[in-house]
Amino acid sequence: MTGAEALFNPFEPAVMADPYPYYRLMRERDPVHWNGAIRTWFLTRHADVSQLLRDDRFSADRTQSERYIPPPPERARAARSMLVVDPPDHTRLRNLVNNAFTPRMVEQLRPRIESISADLVERLAGERETDLVAQFAYPLPVIVIAEMLGVPARDRLRFQEWSAVLIRGLDPFVDAATQELVFDARDALIDYLSGIIAERRREPADDLITGLIAVKEQGDVLSHGELVAMCNLLLVAGHETTVNLIAGGTLALLRHPDELERLRRDPSLARTAVEELLRYVPPVQWTGRVAAAELELGGRRILPRQSVVGVLAAANRDPEVFPDPDRLDVGRDPNPHLAFGRGIHFCLGAPLARLEAQVALPMLLAGFPDLRVAGEPEPRPTWNLRGLARLPVALS
Ligand code: HEM
Repeated sequence: MTGAEALFNPFEPAVMADPYPYYRLMRERDPVHWNGAIRTWFLTRHADVSQLLRDDRFSADRTQSERYIPPPPERARAARSMLVVDPPDHTRLRNLVNNAFTPRMVEQLRPRIESISADLVERLAGERETDLVAQFAYPLPVIVIAEMLGVPARDRLRFQEWSAVLIRGLDPFVDAATQELVFDARDALIDYLSGIIAERRREPADDLITGLIAVKEQGDVLSHGELVAMCNLLLVAGHETTVNLIAGGTLALLRHPDELERLRRDPSLARTAVEELLRYVPPVQWTGRVAAAELELGGRRILPRQSVVGVLAAANRDPEVFPDPDRLDVGRDPNPHLAFGRGIHFCLGAPLARLEAQVALPMLLAGFPDLRVAGEPEPRPTWNLRGLARLPVALS
């Protein structure tokens, strides 16, 4: 490790394999770190990342970045979702779906989440070994979000494939060939969702898509493009994040047998355990903003239109906030981790993701007292959405 430039190269295999030592180095040596090669600031302290997400001098609109390369005209067909717009559009879009995701509304899904989890455990009951990602961690959140939106179960495989390609577009630098694949998947998903929307318009159902169509038809509140972008965002967010909390969380517990036993003996720890897993193995490693004005942060001068990445996973191990930060403690409380972000873009799906993990993990541990890792876990190829593609486990 020589100069500051060498502190952090997200594309190096060693960093991919285990980014935490590198996050720590950055936080200790250069917490507001400029990477000239990719023209991006990296923030790793809890206080700075919180400020990034709360300060309206930073914009969520990535098209404002000096690094932004507009898509060719024939590819520029998608409206933007709430995730990447600022107020007042952000406020308007978020208010349209906020109600469906409040803790009170989500709590009503508990019996359904319990029954899906119980089914998945039961289906595994006769098996000796399985891939925990494919057979448990993935199906639960996917079934739940598909049912909420009203996407037919028979199409699940198709949107799983598109979604897996789409998230590769979230990584900091995407080569041209991958970018084409991402555009193709996005266009296929847009066409697919437009079809579902047309169907629901003819035949309304008791689901979120029907609700959003009604809003759209009431006036100027939601355009067709925004409606598609909203469904797209919810579907992809519902597919690619909670799976990593459940699978990555299970692996972290299996590697900390004392903590696993603590949770198994006392399922009332489910709430703090899930928060701790979110802190310790955050499914979303970072999020980006663009400086809308010249400003100072941690003694460094950030110029307008520069890209700034808040490394949530690094902030989650800041010793200023978390005593003994590299220790997994399923009883840790308070736990002000940043795994769901902060401020106005704070994860809309947080109550849902929390409930799913709080139900699923204790059921899995209770169902399989001998659960253990049975092969090399296979990481996903994406850097920002960090998780497992496969987790081979022995069940009995
Ligand atoms: C463990 C699971 C999850 C994690 C770790 C997670 C993480 C995050 C983070 C970090 C953000 C903020 C991004 C930013 O500030 O730039 C976010 C936003 C968002 N998440 Fe999640 N998420 C999870 C699950 C879900 C689920 C299940 C849904 C929906 C079904 C969802 C929907 C959203 C939406 C719509 C936003 C944008 C909110 C806004 O811009 O106001 N998330 N999520």
